Formats: sequence, structure tokens, C-alpha cells
Amino acid sequence: MKLPFAESYKTKMVESIRRSTREEREKWIQEANYNLFNLKSNQVFIDLLTDSGTGAMSDKQWSEMMLGDESYAGASSYSKMKNAISEITGFPYFLPTHQGRAAENVLFSTIIKAGDIVPGNSHFDTTKGHIEFRKASAVDCTIDEAFDTTLDHPFKGDINLEKLEGVLKSNPKEKIPLIIVTVTCNSSGGQPVSMKNMKAVSQLAKKYDIPVFFDSARFAENAYFIKIREDGYRDKSIREIVLEMFSYADGMTMSSKKDAIVNMGGFIGFRDKGLFEKATMYNILFEGYISYGGMSGRDMNALAQGLYEGTEFNYLETRIGQVAYLGQKLKDFGIPVQYPFGGHAIFVDAKRFLPQLPKEQLVAQTLAVELYLEGGVRGVEIGTLLADRDPETGENRYPELELMRLAIPRRVYSDNHMDFIAAALFNVFERKEQITKGLKIVEEAPILRHFTVKLEKV
Ligand code: F0G
Repeated sequence: MKLPFAESYKTKMVESIRRSTREEREKWIQEANYNLFNLKSNQVFIDLLTDSGTGAMSDKQWSEMMLGDESYAGASSYSKMKNAISEITGFPYFLPTHQGRAAENVLFSTIIKAGDIVPGNSHFDTTKGHIEFRKASAVDCTIDEAFDTTLDHPFKGDINLEKLEGVLKSNPKEKIPLIIVTVTCNSSGGQPVSMKNMKAVSQLAKKYDIPVFFDSARFAENAYFIKIREDGYRDKSIREIVLEMFSYADGMTMSSKKDAIVNMGGFIGFRDKGLFEKATMYNILFEGYISYGGMSGRDMNALAQGLYEGTEFNYLETRIGQVAYLGQKLKDFGIPVQYPFGGHAIFVDAKRFLPQLPKEQLVAQTLAVELYLEGGVRGVEIGTLLADRDPETGENRYPELELMRLAIPRRVYSDNHMDFIAAALFNVFERKEQITKGLKIVEEAPILRHFTVKLEKV
């Protein structure tokens, strides 16, 4: 018999979680204004709100915390992080930031101005938020296949090169400060970008003399998919693949809360010294001195160690295998999910799950509330709420995909938890016809509204 994969780690410490009753959850979700972000963590049994900062650090990472050098300047922790970043990504210059959106803030303050255009593959919401906050616009050039959840395509994060060239051709170079490739592409379902596509984007960008940055939160998971799905990469190590990936970029922004398996942290990688120097001023203004940028020494140590662990094949195989285990269960139940399964999460196609609900009634949010009521499982809406209103017209934007994301924290839950989640969603699926009313907005913020929005039942 072929030996199956199994976790390449064992448990040394545990944290209790508590199941609640349906009555309790009914009360709590109403008090939370039907916004899952407003729930207290002890009101949640299995928390799939995000895989960001929610992973379990290893014993080696915890021991690195003790070795943190908290000197203001010249700390050894800074050097440790610098060495890990240059070894793993190949970027010679970097700036530490407290998380991914801070990296975006620093980089975009340096290069984006009002009226600019930033093409890419379905920009993440903070990325888009930081672009639109500067009165610039994000243009989505993702391949059309990504928006059909039933279609099997190995690299649904790919950029449509014709769409991209259309944008590059029809705008003056001065208006396009960068192209952003998100690896893996969170907004289209944790979908990977192929090496072939990265290379082609890089060549196109060179032709038009525009820098390419990778939004790299889940770069290692992307490399795993390249290894198992793309011709010519089977025998390459994850680290070799990662180095080749980044060779097609001029820089990267990183939320280390994902693939570096830390609870907080981020950075920007640069190839160009001049740009790094320009960005330094903003880093000092917004984040802190360049040798810590919003992170303590111990955080930088844990991050450096996490980068090595996060790029190990055995770890990635279990991690992505667990996500696929959940996905396959749901698929076998006939529940519509984005296929192939994403790297960090399963994305349930809410429009196909609840076709009877009109889009104005926030279909994916309604589904996420139902799943919480059923089993105390907290997912997150990746749909109309997240898409915000059009900053020009003030109208709601209805994205092509209306998804409920079940993001799996790294090294945290067991496969029994996956079985529980699948059973809870199955029960909602069984009674889906009875869900005839959705939700409506009572109060909302002008930008990134999904965090604080207040909702009520229609
Ligand atoms: N880019 C991507 C692709 C992300 O998924 C995120 C965060 C960020 C940038 C911003 O990083 O949170 O460290 O400031 N994604 C989290 C999520 C919040 O739940 O998917 P951050």
C-alpha cells in the first residue's frame, strides 16, 4: 500500500474550545448585528474567519522568540530576517512592516498617485483599498475561467495577457506605477498563478517598462501548486521554485501572517536600491526605523524561522492536503465550491448554494450566518459586502463571484474538525430551500465596510 501523507509535526500544547447551543448562537449573532467579525472568539467553535495570523507557531519559532534582540538599531533579529528573506526570495533589499497592508501603505505612498491605474489579478481588498484611497484604480485582469467555479483549470489565478496588454497599451506609462500579481490569488479563491504566466507578465511588463510586484502572502502555497501541477517542476524543491517565481518580480509585499506562520508581521522586498531608498522615508514615518518597522526583535526572529518552515514540502503537503480533504467532502455532498480547491481555504459558491436569494440580500453573508447558527463555525463573506461601493457612483458593486470562504488556520485544527465543518454545512445544504430571506445593510463605513457593517434580516 502507498503510504499516505501525515502531519510532519505533532502537538505539544493545546487550547480548549467550547461548543455552544443553537439558542446561544441565535442570541449572539443578533447582538453582533449579523456581522461575524463582531462575534467574540469564545462564541465560535471552529474559527475559519481567516488563516491570517491564526496559525500555530512551532517550538523552534517559540524558542526564537526568546532569542529576540530588542536593540533599536542594528539588532541581530533584523539580520536574521534579512538573511532569511534574501535566501528564500532573492530580494537584496527589504523593509520590515507590521503586517501586509502596512507594506502596501509604504510602497503605494512611494509610487502611486491620484489618477493612476494598477492592473493585476483580482487585487485583495486591502490592496484595492490602498489604491482607491489614493484616488487611483485597480483593474482586474484575471482570466475569465476563474469566475466559473465549476470549471477545472489548474491556475485560476493567472492573468489574461491580452487584458493586461490592453491596459498597458491604452494608458501612458506614467499612469501605471506597477502591476500587482497576487500569489496565490485570494479573491478568486486561493487560486495559484502558473510560472509560465508569471514569466509572461514579467516579459510584457519589461516591454512597457513597468515594474511588477507580487502580493506574496501565500507564495509558498503557490509554489506547491506549481510543483504538483505545472510541467517541469515535479523534481524541483519548493525553495527552488520560490526563487524562480520571484526572479520574475521587481519586488514583493508580504503579509507574514500567512505563509511565514507568525501571528503578526510583514515586509516589502525590493530589487532596486533607488526605490528601496525612496520607500525608506515612508517606512520610518509610518512603521518605525528600518531595522524593525513595526515589529519587535522576537517577532522578526519567529518570522525568519517561519519562512523556512513555511517553504518545506512536507508541511505544505499536509496543509494543502487538509484544505483539499474538506473540499472533497463538500464536493461529494454536492455542495458547490470553487474548483480546484484553493490553497488556504475552501470557497463555497453562495449564488449556486442559495439561487433563490436576490443579490441585494447579501447571499454569501446570509450563508455564513446560517453556517454559524448550525454549528458555531465562523466563515467569512467574500462577496458584495467585501466589494464595497463604487467610489465614483456610490452604488453597490456586485462581484462576479459571491463566495463564503472557509479559511483553514495553519497547523491548528484536526481532520475531525474538518468532518464537523462538512457535516454542519451539509445540514444547511439539506434545508437550503427554507432560506428564503437574506440580510440588508443598516449601517456601513465608506471603505472596507465588511469589518464594521451592521445588518438585519430582510
Ligand atoms: N494580500 C493578500 C493576498 C491578503 O490575503 C491579505 C490579507 C493582505 C494582502 C493584507 O495583509 O492582513 O497582513 O494586512 N488577508 C487576510 C485574509 C486578512 O483574511 O485573507 P494583512
